[in-house]
Amino acid sequence: MLEELISLEKSYPQFAQPDSPTQRVGGQITKEFETVEHTYPMMSLSNTYSEAELRDFDERVQKALGENYQYVCELKFDGVAIGLTYKDGILQRAVTRGDGVRGDNVTANVKTIRTIPLKLKGKDYPEEFEIRGEIILDKKSFERINAERIDIGETPFANPRNSAAGTLKLQDSSIVARRKLDCYLYALYGNFEFSSHNEALKHAAEWGFKISDHYRVCKNIDEVLKYIHEWDEKREQLEFAIDGIVIKVNDFGQQSELGFTAKSPRWAIAYKYKAQSVATLLKSVVYQVGRTGAITPVANLEPVLLAGTVVKRASLHNADQIEKLDLRVGDTVFVEKGGEIIPKITGVDLSKRPAGLHKLKYITHCPECNTALIRREGEALHYCPNEDGCPPQIKGRIVHFTSRKAMNIEGLGSETIDLLVNNQLLHDVADIYHLQKENLLQLERMGEKSVNNLLEAIEMSKAVPFERVLFAIGIRFVGDTVAKKIARHFNSYHNLELATLEDLQQAPEVGEIIAQSVYSFVHDNKNKKMIARLADTGLKLEIENKKQAGGNKLAGLSFVITGVFSKHSREELKELIETNGGKNVSGVSAKTNYLLAGDDCGPSKLEKADKLKIKIISEDEFLNMIQ
Ligand code: IVH
Repeated sequence: MLEELISLEKSYPQFAQPDSPTQRVGGQITKEFETVEHTYPMMSLSNTYSEAELRDFDERVQKALGENYQYVCELKFDGVAIGLTYKDGILQRAVTRGDGVRGDNVTANVKTIRTIPLKLKGKDYPEEFEIRGEIILDKKSFERINAERIDIGETPFANPRNSAAGTLKLQDSSIVARRKLDCYLYALYGNFEFSSHNEALKHAAEWGFKISDHYRVCKNIDEVLKYIHEWDEKREQLEFAIDGIVIKVNDFGQQSELGFTAKSPRWAIAYKYKAQSVATLLKSVVYQVGRTGAITPVANLEPVLLAGTVVKRASLHNADQIEKLDLRVGDTVFVEKGGEIIPKITGVDLSKRPAGLHKLKYITHCPECNTALIRREGEALHYCPNEDGCPPQIKGRIVHFTSRKAMNIEGLGSETIDLLVNNQLLHDVADIYHLQKENLLQLERMGEKSVNNLLEAIEMSKAVPFERVLFAIGIRFVGDTVAKKIARHFNSYHNLELATLEDLQQAPEVGEIIAQSVYSFVHDNKNKKMIARLADTGLKLEIENKKQAGGNKLAGLSFVITGVFSKHSREELKELIETNGGKNVSGVSAKTNYLLAGDDCGPSKLEKADKLKIKIISEDEFLNMIQ
């Protein structure tokens, strides 16, 4: 039904509704965000790290209000502030803080956040109002995004807040939709019938907004401090990052009495948690080489307990960082965990430095292949330029090529790749398609069965669509989603070779840096040879549009997929359906043509298909249909 709605809205844009569920999947491209004025200025809060200052704040409040007042304590979400305007219960616009007076209109991206209602529940909301909150990314999603960024040679985000901010500014809202942003709301602006903040939160929750249920009404500053201490202990267990507690006077009338300074309300304050820090011994610094040749220095530490986990290693980022900290092996260093998940070294305890420690010298040569390192103008990282001879780079590129989101060659994981590279059977990714059975059988741990399986998996990978091949070949800064965008924009690798830098920047999500990276990749002689070899083996280097090619085998047929399959992942099967002109639908209905059923599928879809007399087919039967 969603797909039908998407296509109806494309044909009849005049009837598309602002609260349509199609907005959740994104698709709108914003090359530049419009700057708009806030209806209510977006102020900040005064901050403190000290309990004494918090008591001073309470004294000021008491002086103005007398004895009779309450506070509401809330978590201080570490994300990106957002203001959402609703008119007649429908989300109209979403604006970032900007300079507090004007911000960016990021409505299309914000509409993909499923916990933000496009249409409100109930009826007792004002005709027009604004609600503010914080867009966040939970710790797990943050780690996933960073792992992906490291893989394609991009600098990881320092903390979940930066990654939420980066995501919110993506041009393509369909990518935002996949990043799983979330949003907690905490402040209402407009004319309301209720008279206190905690009532406001209750109503907002009833209208469908996500309100954290960790807020608490406190009768006095001692209760506030108790709340602060409780969450200092528990905050590590939260799925998202917080950097403190916000304390607000509850009664709206009393808030007005207290008023504002030029920058912030006098009725609220933020208590910020100090980053948790411990001292430990720096045992050594090792240097890792990534698949793009980037060198990352890593500190090995005497294991130490910090914020609930044992920390043994800390990232040192780059040479400048080491220089700035003046680190020496044998030093006692301070390790901190703030909003960031990966611990970092913030300083050295000089009073504990033993005599005779040598200043750490950054390596000049690759620890793996001994090639002199280079550092490009304006870049923070050192690189090993020996792309073709440096083992972790060769292996890293092959591991990336065979990985699930790329060519998905099962049986060719990092250990087997190590074995094959060490035995000179693999030098680059194109060699994968020239592996010989008899050579493989010579290797330890490789029996007849596993060799057969491996060769079959390699053969099957030839059907992987162009967009994934483009991701697999490992162009710096080109992740799976950007690869998809580029593939769909240019249709073939050949067109990419013909594109100018300006042409490349026309594709969604492609700015100067990515364009430059793609341009130099496709014009590099070695890469040209590798691509030619891959093309010879039959890999797909263009979008398979069966409609144009005339082999539209599944045209007009709709499929529902259920269960687990042995030869292809569900995603691959979906792609095969689409590239052959068929349609994927999520639920079985009278209009469904086939139910493609694997193992362990739930009985409900099977029963329904049976009842509606829909043909149920196996993976093999399906593959026969498109052979
Ligand atoms: S209330 C007039 N409540 O922290 C300001 N802000 O450092 C009203 N924040 O600007 C803001 N969690 O972006 C409020 N529970 C919370 C919050 C919160 C995070 C952010 C917000 C604010 C900043 C102040």
